[in-house]
Amino acid sequence: MAAVLFVCLGNICRSPMAEGILRARPEAKGWTIDSAGTAGHHAGEHADPRTERVLRRHGQQFAHAARAVTADDFPRYDMLLAMDADNLSDLRRRCPAGHQHKLTLALEPLGGGDVPDPYYGGPEGFDHVHDLLTRALDVWVQRWSGDAA
Ligand code: 4NP
Repeated sequence: MAAVLFVCLGNICRSPMAEGILRARPEAKGWTIDSAGTAGHHAGEHADPRTERVLRRHGQQFAHAARAVTADDFPRYDMLLAMDADNLSDLRRRCPAGHQHKLTLALEPLGGGDVPDPYYGGPEGFDHVHDLLTRALDVWVQRWSGDAA
């Protein structure tokens, strides 16, 4: 059982990709899963059509409305997984001391590093994001399901 929030900048490309991948995992049934952006410019929008296309191809699409991170997210979630170092440092600045331990990079199981922002690139960047997040989430799911990983 886990409550996890995925965080990127705009909450339209990378963090909804992670949310869709995790929501589709059978182990995640009953978990609290959401995504949000460190910025609110795209609030209320669907996921980027390029993210939607990749999720649909994998049978992982879901209804998404972008939103910004709020102060309530820090107590509410067990883990807040940032897509890149900028997102993580934004979260670290805003997070109360008692919840700092919940913050890390989504790719920590792969040794850390950034999920590259695909927004200004071509569609292949979105496939790469999906591949990276799938591999990292395989490990996160094992950990949150209580298996050693
Ligand atoms: P995301 O990608 O943080 O993965 O949702 C981006 C979305 C929008 C912008 C940048 C990155 N933007 O500059 O509007």
